[in-house]
Amino acid sequence: METASRRMLFDVTVWTASLFMTLVLVTREAMAGSSTFTATHPKWEAECGTCHIAYPPQLLPAPSWRRVMSGLDKHFGTDAGLDARTAAEIGVFLEQNAASGKRALAAPDTLRITETAWFQREHRKVPEAIWKHPAVKTRANCVACHTAAEQGDYRERNIRMPR
Ligand code: HEC
Ligand code: HEC
Repeated sequence: METASRRMLFDVTVWTASLFMTLVLVTREAMAGSSTFTATHPKWEAECGTCHIAYPPQLLPAPSWRRVMSGLDKHFGTDAGLDARTAAEIGVFLEQNAASGKRALAAPDTLRITETAWFQREHRKVPEAIWKHPAVKTRANCVACHTAAEQGDYRERNIRMPR
């Protein structure tokens, strides 16, 4: 009898400890997740990562993605048109992983990540001259400064400003 209750106490302790560890890991993941984006889709990578990096879906709200995807034939001065099935598939991926919370605060007609309030706030300290630097050229060229952007990693430790 005594061994049984000791055994139970042991089980409860192990269970509580592992629950606590899980919570710690989940919280860390959620915090790191604010500047690291891992959601991926093979067609999105192939079709949206050729002219520029495949911008993480978490950086624009769903209504914006819907607008981007419905105007691909006239995409920022180029034709990025896709067959309807591929476009629909990528659209679902983008909307399912779209921005939430503060990053979702964008006018419904916003097509650009670089025009959202969160982008402008995060980049307010970047000097105007850097945006015009020949290695940058456009704000949309994330990888010019976010050296690991192709892996969805925008953490500060991987930012290198061109000089
Ligand atoms: C044929 C080339 C091409 C393809 C393919 C393409 N894009 Fe673009 N995209 C562009 C150009 C050019 C710009 C404008 C870049 C700039 O302003 O410097 C752009 C800009 C964007 C922007 C706005 C960036 C900003 O300023 O915040 C988004 C969002 C975007 N593309 C999403 C997509 C998605 C989603 C796909 C795949 C369905 C895609 N693009 C495929 C050429 C392309
Ligand atoms: C000219 C260099 C430059 C370019 C280009 C640039 N960024 Fe940044 N970005 C920065 C700097 C610098 C910071 C850090 C600002 C600070 O902490 O003061 C930053 C911060 C961020 C953050 C927040 C990171 C964190 O850990 O808080 C995100 C997300 C981000 N940028 C996304 C993007 C995206 C997406 C693009 C392209 C559409 C982009 N950036 C283009 C320089 C750049």
